[in-house]
Amino acid sequence: MIKGIVFDLDGVIVSTDRFHYEAWKAIADQEGIYFDEKINDRLRGVSRMASLDIILERASRQYDEEEKLALATKKNEIYRGLLSRLSPSDVEEADREALEELRSRGYKLAVGSSSKNTPLILEKIGLGSFFDAVADGNQITHSKPNPEVFLLAAKLIDIDPSEGAVVEDAEAGIDAAKAGGFLAVGIGGAASYYRADRKIASLVDLLSIFKPIEKE
Ligand code: BG6
Ligand code: MG
Repeated sequence: MIKGIVFDLDGVIVSTDRFHYEAWKAIADQEGIYFDEKINDRLRGVSRMASLDIILERASRQYDEEEKLALATKKNEIYRGLLSRLSPSDVEEADREALEELRSRGYKLAVGSSSKNTPLILEKIGLGSFFDAVADGNQITHSKPNPEVFLLAAKLIDIDPSEGAVVEDAEAGIDAAKAGGFLAVGIGGAASYYRADRKIASLVDLLSIFKPIEKE
């Protein structure tokens, strides 16, 4: 029986993809490296440094660790500047209501995100103290498709992975959910991924999957 739901953040609760794209595009242009939306799709759920490695696949020269760190830092500065535009209105009202309804149905709700900017984003969208637990890129060693972030989220809300569902827009996130033993719910880009156990068009559809938990 499902008792807790772990939500990915970027692309599930709020659409930050366009900001990631804009920031990486600025870095790629500066370095003269080809980058487009299709390549950007491969960065979903992937850590900052792993994202940079994907972008550098098209570079005409090698970058050492120091250079890579400088590029990732610059990207993050640009990205955080763009995040300052976020506000509570960036979360769909229907999604916010669906989250509240899931809570009143008895589910524990957590965030499981690879992003080290998770606390900032949650605060900007007015959900800084909404979730029962937040597991993010600051607390983990291995990024998705490794299940570490979801296992941590499950531990923080005191459920076994078999009692948890993960809502994800990234294929790497669905892989991570499956590797951790969770029910994997695909949304957005992951809604057409064959490994997703359930496929939804919006968070509101979760209300048809997760019925009120009967009190003992
Ligand atoms: C994930 C995004 O949520 O966070 C990835 O889907 C991103 O695209 C990753 O690379 C890391 O984000 P940040 O904010 O730590 O650079
Ligand atoms: Mg995502």
